[in-house]
Amino acid sequence: MKTFNLAIVGLGNIGTEVYKSLNKNKDIIKKKTGFKLNIIKVSAKNYKKKRGIKLSKNKWEKNPLSLTKNKNIDIIIELVGGNKGIAKKLVFESLKNKKHVVTANKSLIAKYGDQLSILAEKNAVNLLFEASVGGGIPIIRSIKQGLIANKIFHVYGILNGTTNYILSEMEDKNISFKDALIKAQKLGYAERNPSSDVKGIDAAEKISILSSICFGCKILNKGFIVEGITNVTIDDINFAKELGLKIKLLAISEKIGNYIKQRVHPCLIPSSLDIANINGVTNAIVVDGAPIGRTIYEGEGAGKGPTTSAIISDISSIMVGNDDFSFGHSPKTKKNFKKYNFNNHECKYYIRILVNDKKGVLYKIASIFARNNISVRNLVQKPKNNLSNIVLITHYAKEINVMKAMKSFTKNKSIFKKTVLIRIRDQNKL
Ligand code: HSE
Repeated sequence: MKTFNLAIVGLGNIGTEVYKSLNKNKDIIKKKTGFKLNIIKVSAKNYKKKRGIKLSKNKWEKNPLSLTKNKNIDIIIELVGGNKGIAKKLVFESLKNKKHVVTANKSLIAKYGDQLSILAEKNAVNLLFEASVGGGIPIIRSIKQGLIANKIFHVYGILNGTTNYILSEMEDKNISFKDALIKAQKLGYAERNPSSDVKGIDAAEKISILSSICFGCKILNKGFIVEGITNVTIDDINFAKELGLKIKLLAISEKIGNYIKQRVHPCLIPSSLDIANINGVTNAIVVDGAPIGRTIYEGEGAGKGPTTSAIISDISSIMVGNDDFSFGHSPKTKKNFKKYNFNNHECKYYIRILVNDKKGVLYKIASIFARNNISVRNLVQKPKNNLSNIVLITHYAKEINVMKAMKSFTKNKSIFKKTVLIRIRDQNKL
């Protein structure tokens, strides 16, 4: 029986849990895969840190890069994170030196996944990253293997647990974005510097990876709309409630002909949609394909347990040898689809304008809309001291026209104090 020798680089919460779990479940993995595994080396910044595991001195490697040259190692688990420095060098060098790589590093994969998968194929090793999207949800393997017979045309979902927690808390407890963020930080969901999550970057990296897997295209990692939730206020959440809608940060990708329409932004969705009721740190992903139709995946999107589950699934696939292509296609066959021009996007829009409550303001708003070919469907006005919140829902309108109107509002700060725009995703259109 072959034994696979592993090295783990990065022993934070997740690395330590992977170490513990692999040791604890060695026998089950042997039974299920038909192979033995052995962690022969570990490397991290600090040897002395208390981790609740016994690490013999001979397992410890001070210089992680030297592991890539160690002839006895078959698989390197990269859990350092980030798309530069040690993590980047380690993954490139490991593949060049014919080591299989398992990583949870979405940022590295979203940026260098195309190059890395070519390198993996050239060196006849695997590069797997199930933990990079959706935490413990086996979304990557489900699409690559479970849906192998399908043509996928649409993938979308809640890919960031931190922002979903913040939005759920705002709605549930009627608290501000800032207070919900502080709560998320206290509970360890949001990092001290939360920008990657709250600005939508984390979700953008994840949808870039999923698009490439779903559509067989090169990774589209820039030049698409990425908006976070920092502008979403409790007023918007409450207006949404009155309209029977919920605000969710969605990552969406569709293939339209030879174009990929990919984006991350808050969406107003009907409370009756399945995905509207995914709350807290939970992630959910919807995949539409043929012949299968729609499938929905839901589960813990982060944390040491779910991430470890995904990492061990990758290790087992490498041992069994049933998951050769990182993105489900040979990197040589990946297509270079064009980026959809988002100016042509059409949907209903929610626009909230905080105005000075004066004569003629509504007339001004109406003329800006008329000038830009935007038709208003509903309008609610709520006075607030000398100011007033005017909430408008448009009929289907074109993104370019709506953006022009928004520019006109922001230009005239003496009347229009603040504007918020949220795209509406109704049942039928994306
Ligand atoms: N920060 C991510 C989230 C988890 O909140 O979903 C890691 O991908």
